[in-house]
Amino acid sequence: MSEAAELGRAVAALRSGEPVAFPTETVYGLGADARNPAAVQRVFELKGRPSAHPLIVHLADAGHLDAWAERIPEPAHRLAARFWPGPLTLILPRAAGVLDVVTGGQQSIGLRVPSHPLARRLLEAFGGGIAAPSANRYGRVSPTTAAHVREEFGAELPIVLDGGPCSVGLESTIVSCLDEILVLRPGGIAVPELEAVVGPLRAARRGEGPRAPGTTLAHYAPRTPLKLAAGAAFEALAAEPRLAVLARHAPRVGFLGAAWLDAGEEATRYAHDLYANLRELDRLGAAAILVEAVPPGIEWDAVRDRLARAAAACDAEELA
Ligand code: TXA
Ligand code: MG
Repeated sequence: MSEAAELGRAVAALRSGEPVAFPTETVYGLGADARNPAAVQRVFELKGRPSAHPLIVHLADAGHLDAWAERIPEPAHRLAARFWPGPLTLILPRAAGVLDVVTGGQQSIGLRVPSHPLARRLLEAFGGGIAAPSANRYGRVSPTTAAHVREEFGAELPIVLDGGPCSVGLESTIVSCLDEILVLRPGGIAVPELEAVVGPLRAARRGEGPRAPGTTLAHYAPRTPLKLAAGAAFEALAAEPRLAVLARHAPRVGFLGAAWLDAGEEATRYAHDLYANLRELDRLGAAAILVEAVPPGIEWDAVRDRLARAAAACDAEELA
C-alpha cells in the first residue's frame, strides 16, 4: 500500500473510533480520536492501563492549543515556540470540553506537537487531537519500531503506521506549567535546554505536582528480571553464567553469559538504542538482564530514570 493510502486508512479508522499506532520521534504511540470517549476507552483496554492515568493529546501545531488548554502561562508559550514540534509535553489547565477519560479526571491536560514527519502528516490529515500513550502493554518496554508494536498487540491492532526507528528513542520530557513550572519526567529534551528558555527549573519531588502515572516507580520492564549494577559489583555479576548484559564497554575475554550488548559511552546513541536493546535481551530467555549503571551527568538523566524504573518494576514483580 502506498503511504498516502496507509494514511487514508489510518485517518478513516480514527474517524470511526478505532485505535491506530503511529510513529513519533520519541516512541510509537497508540492513538485515538481525543474527542471520542469510546475510542479513548478502547486505548485503555488494549493497553491494559488503569483508567485514572491521563493520556497526552498530540496536535498538528501549536495553533490548536486554545481548543485544548486555557489560561496558558507565558513560559509555556515560550517552551512551545522553542521546542515544538519536538519531544516536549506541556501540562496545562484543560479547556472546557476536554474529555475526563483523556485527563484521568484531572483539571489539567498533557499536550505535545510531535516532529516525526509521518505523525505530522497523520495529525494534519486527521485534523483533530490524537490521544496517545506509548504503544506498549501497560508497564512494559516502550516501542521504537513498528515491529515492536506488532510484537505487543498482534492482530488486536491492525493499523500500525511504519515510520522506521524512532530518532530519539525515549519518551518526551514532561513539564508541568500549572502553579509552578516543574519537570515531571526527564526525556527527549534535556533540562538545561529548557532552562535556557524559562530559567531555573526544579524536578518534581515524588508525589508533587499533578498525578503522572508514568512517573510511578515500576515501569518500562522487560519480562526477564533486570538488575542494575555499577563498577566492581557490575563486573563481578557479569562473570556469572546465563546473564544477558547491557554494558557500555566490550566484554572481558571468556565471557560466559547469554549475550553482551555494548551500547557505548554516548548518551544520545544509548537512549536511541535502549528499548530495542532491552527487547533483544528479553528474547533470550536469560536468567536475568544485567545493566551497567550509567554515569551521573545530566545528559544521562532520562536513561537513568528509565533504567531505575525498569529495575524497580522487576523488584516489585519479584515481591508480588
Ligand atoms: O514521548 C511521549 O511522550 C510518548 C509519545 C507517544 O508521545 N507518549 C507517552 O505517553 O510516553 P505515556 O502515556 O506512555 O506517558 C504519558 C505520561 C504519563 O506519565 C502521564 O501520567 C503523563 O504523561 N500525563 C499525561 N497527561 C497528564 C496530565 N494531565 N497531568 C499529569 N501527567 C500527565
Ligand atoms: Mg508509556
